Amino acid sequence: MTTTEARRAASARECVETYGTAICPLDRIARESGVAALVDGEAVAVFRTYDDRVFAISNFDPFGRASVLSRGIVGSRGDDEVPFVASPLLKQRFDLRTGACLDDPAVVVATWDVRVVDGTVVVGARHETIES
Ligand code: FES
Repeated sequence: MTTTEARRAASARECVETYGTAICPLDRIARESGVAALVDGEAVAVFRTYDDRVFAISNFDPFGRASVLSRGIVGSRGDDEVPFVASPLLKQRFDLRTGACLDDPAVVVATWDVRVVDGTVVVGARHETIES
């Protein structure tokens, strides 16, 4: 490892620690799918879209009352391409950006900040459920 590489690795490590919890390399998540991870004791579903964006929402499906959203179908809706996951249980769709249910606007699941730092998916701050 060169000095520059070592410095980059050190700063990436610092960055991950500052930002939150390292989940896994981005390559480990297939496009249009998700993985489940435990972040501060909570089950989080982390998704990678077809265009390599990453999103993190609660893994808990409030309709099916089970931790399953990471195994849902990832897609996008309409002209504005709203990225969503459809629950594998009762098929309700959740906006990956906001956690809002696209089929029942009264239901919103928690979201987390998430980004890719040097190829590693890192989950940051949790955002509380907002009732609409
Ligand atoms: S805190 Fe800077 S990219 Fe992670």
